[in-house]
Amino acid sequence: MTHAAHIELKEVRKAYRIGSEAISIFSDLDLTIPQGDFVAIMGPSGSGKSTLLNMLAGIDRPDAGSLTIGDHRLDWMGEAALASWRAHNVGIVFQFYNLLPMLTAAENVELPLLLKPLSKKERRERVDKVLDLVGLAGRERQYPSSMSGGQQQRIGIARAIVSDPSLLLCDEPTGDLDRASADDVLQMLTFLNRELGKTIVMVTHDPRAAGSARRTLYLDKGQFIEAEKAA
Ligand SMILES: Nc1ncnc2c1ncn2[C@@H]1O[C@H](COP(=O)(O)OP(=O)(O)OP(=O)(O)O)[C@@H](O)[C@H]1O
Ligand SMILES: [Mg+2]
Repeated sequence: MTHAAHIELKEVRKAYRIGSEAISIFSDLDLTIPQGDFVAIMGPSGSGKSTLLNMLAGIDRPDAGSLTIGDHRLDWMGEAALASWRAHNVGIVFQFYNLLPMLTAAENVELPLLLKPLSKKERRERVDKVLDLVGLAGRERQYPSSMSGGQQQRIGIARAIVSDPSLLLCDEPTGDLDRASADDVLQMLTFLNRELGKTIVMVTHDPRAAGSARRTLYLDKGQFIEAEKAA
């Protein structure tokens, strides 16, 4: 087995420029997330949680320092290489699902596969398999607007894993869900981590959600503090 999703940040610096002012998010961030880990990231609003996820997804880049995932130095890669790397290695789950309303459940899940050299039949098989995995078999033709938040998020998860990425990035995946639906989603993430070996980095404000992870990191003032996991 490869370590495609072993994450290593060293001395990462990241700032945003607003007009003439630079706002520093990270000035010297070190972080290691081993392959197969399930990490919850908590911290105040504006502390840089989404910025970190965007860097791990290769959507945003560090200003300095190194960001290595598997054997790829993301900070050395150009846009095209990053996009291709992302398509093969990363699934992203969003708070508000980001489903396309004019597409059915199956068509939403199929989207990432359209970039791959697969036949219609192969795509169909993969879509059916992941919809089954998230408990939505039989709902292929339903539109997102006719589904509950919990069901829409399960489509979001199916879409994130349909390309079989080794790394799953989740930004507040339960932030818009009631408790029962949130528990469903967390159970699913736990399954993906434990049974399918996905490395998961999940940003959350909810301590209950963080309880599903193997460990919790608190981000504050540009640095991480690891929390003791309650027994
Ligand atoms: N594209 C951008 N341009 C300028 N500033 C940005 C940009 N993206 C984020 N920021 C700023 O960087 C800081 C960190 O933002 P980020 O979205 O990472 O925080 P967060 O921890 O995810 O917060 P929340 O819990 O509210 O989602 C904030 O001060 C934000 O305003
Ligand atoms: Mg955020």
